Amino acid sequence: MGPFIIPPVPVPPSSGMIHLTDKEFTTLVSFVKQKYGINLQQKRVLIEGRMTNMLRERGLTNFQQYLDILFKDSSGKEVTTLLNKLTTNLSYFMREPDHYQYLRDSILPQLVRTHGHNRDLRIWSAGCSAGQEAYTTAMVLDEFFGPQKHLWDTRILASDISMRVLEKAKQGIYPADDIRDIPPAWRNKYFKLLPNGQYQVCEKIRNEVIFRSINLMDAFSFRKPFDVIFCRNVMIYFDGPTKERLVEKFYQVLGEGGYFFIGHSESINRDHTRFRYIKPAIYQKGGRA
Ligand SMILES: C[S@@+](CC[C@H](N)C(=O)[O-])C[C@H]1O[C@@H](n2cnc3c(N)ncnc32)[C@H](O)[C@@H]1O
Repeated sequence: MGPFIIPPVPVPPSSGMIHLTDKEFTTLVSFVKQKYGINLQQKRVLIEGRMTNMLRERGLTNFQQYLDILFKDSSGKEVTTLLNKLTTNLSYFMREPDHYQYLRDSILPQLVRTHGHNRDLRIWSAGCSAGQEAYTTAMVLDEFFGPQKHLWDTRILASDISMRVLEKAKQGIYPADDIRDIPPAWRNKYFKLLPNGQYQVCEKIRNEVIFRSINLMDAFSFRKPFDVIFCRNVMIYFDGPTKERLVEKFYQVLGEGGYFFIGHSESINRDHTRFRYIKPAIYQKGGRA
């Protein structure tokens, strides 16, 4: 009898990563960049990792089959699923807290002075992920206006391209760990503990935020100018020219004296913008020189 050879463990055809060919990678990256601004050039492994399971579940064995389906679909369903998979949605309550302090201590008192006649504030959380930024802002406004709140229209527009995060945002339900940075007084005032141990933003604050699907690469059409726009930790995924075009679009939809917030890890090239730098990651349209 010859040597005993252990037979190799057969690898089922449905396991392991499905890899992108160079052509498939280029096609997918160009599509996402052109339509949504997101630059996935360095994210080949991320794409394969996030999409392999979905391809397998659908019985697909390579990315070309998937791309054929994606480009033929006119319902918008395929691209929704793609964006749900490929966007990075990290966000948390009270993120970059000095921004909320500046809003409360400098911007809101100023807006109260200038908007006393119409009592209509217009704030946009652009790239809102699961709503943490917009809800934190709504809490700041609620606290600031106190009993005068009902005299003002302070509803916030919050938008994203990922339907998955928008659905989560509308429900306003978060695991306990996600609200750890909320001061205890606010937790009691603005959140409801659910039987499953998760927390839901109270109805009053949820009603203050209007969630919409808006692709920041599309032309903007808003009836009235904004007073404040947050677009924090969104443009990090865009390349320089895309970012510059978007910053200019934000400039155009802000009212004179309006404020623009970006993430602290981001910057705007001051030679290529009409915004006035106020302090780290805060800019103003016009205002005092
Ligand atoms: C990292 S999250 C930032 C969330 C929040 N602004 C913050 O700072 O915590 C970035 C969000 O931008 C969204 N996004 C990326 N590209 C977008 C686009 N073209 N239009 C609208 N939203 C976009 C993503 O879906 C994601 O939810």
